[in-house]
Amino acid sequence: MDAFLRGQSSTASSSKLKLQTGEETAGSSNKRVVVPWVEKYRPRSVDEVAYQDEVVAVLKKSLEGVDLPNLLFYGPPGTGKTSTILAIARQLFGPELMRSRVLELNASDERGIQVVRDKVKKFAQLAASGIRADGKPCPPFKLVILDEADSMTPSAQAALRRTMEKETKTTRFCLICNYVSRIIEPLTSRCSKFRFKPLSTDTLEKRLNMICEKEDVKCDSKAIQELIKISEGDMRKAITYLQSAHRLKGEDMVEADDISEIAGVVPIKMADKLFEACESDSFEKLDATVQEIIAEGHAAAQVINQVHDRIIEMAELNDHQKSAIMEKIAIVDKCLCDGADEYLQILSLCSVMMQQFCHAGQT
Ligand SMILES: Nc1ncnc2c1ncn2[C@@H]1O[C@H](COP(=O)(O)OP(=O)(O)OP(=O)(O)O)[C@@H](O)[C@H]1O
Ligand SMILES: [Mg+2]
Repeated sequence: MDAFLRGQSSTASSSKLKLQTGEETAGSSNKRVVVPWVEKYRPRSVDEVAYQDEVVAVLKKSLEGVDLPNLLFYGPPGTGKTSTILAIARQLFGPELMRSRVLELNASDERGIQVVRDKVKKFAQLAASGIRADGKPCPPFKLVILDEADSMTPSAQAALRRTMEKETKTTRFCLICNYVSRIIEPLTSRCSKFRFKPLSTDTLEKRLNMICEKEDVKCDSKAIQELIKISEGDMRKAITYLQSAHRLKGEDMVEADDISEIAGVVPIKMADKLFEACESDSFEKLDATVQEIIAEGHAAAQVINQVHDRIIEMAELNDHQKSAIMEKIAIVDKCLCDGADEYLQILSLCSVMMQQFCHAGQT
């Protein structure tokens, strides 16, 4: 038993080590450790970052000059923000200096005002020489990466202002966030801003096909299209779903339905039934259908997303009807974020849809 436990823990720690160093393990036959593909295919250099051409061009210029401005990366999830700054840091400092020259703090670390005052300030004040121990030149500054900076409190952000200004000689800052509006103005004005765009269909398709080829995944082209549709430009989501589907199917062909199943998409038949119930003008029928959807475990957020997409494309509705339903969708979305009951929220949205489908024009 002891030996068993020891064996377990040693493989666990070795896999952790491998994950940290980003080593690929596909080659080693029986000690094969499953590396999440998002990590395995994380860009290692700025050149490998797909689709963010303007950002890459500017950063490469900065790399040639071996200098960096303070940076602010913003954009939706899974578009390459964290990967890009880690790649730049690796290219600037090399693996040996990364540890001493880069301070990376993300939302899982404590980043209140005290940490900014103590840890960040202390790190920023350390001197950085332009020559390595082996005599080779290196950038004469350090890099502080504040990932998910939009979750920092305004007072912690405010505490950064002075540090950022005072330590420009020895330190560069890189703030990363999804919502740039949550970063206080004095900080954004101290940084060069870079917007990361949702990845294009082509880019996602190429990269997913490349991964399928390398990992020997049999994947239907319709499944790739489904992945692209569901991920909405989020490469992380697309790769994660692909890996889950591959685990599910093993050697078999991954098909579009497998992807929708994994992504928790409400099946078309179910969605049709909901729309039919709204058109039937029978509240009883509607109530029964909504209950069925909830009983099957579908998430309300997913339901309203799909309703939204369908309503927009319904030619038989006029603009007034569509706008009334959209307004309700916005309210329901907010209520769901605030923790409202899923069944009641879907029911209230569908009631408005029923009104618009069957009684538009009546008050
Ligand atoms: N532009 C890209 N080029 C190549 N791979 C990408 C790109 N964007 C994302 N990826 C893939 O998605 C994974 C996640 O990317 P990353 O962590 O950089 O996203 P992020 O923009 O920091 O997202 P978040 O806002 O959620 O932190 C990477 O490991 C990589 O596999
Ligand atoms: Mg990130």
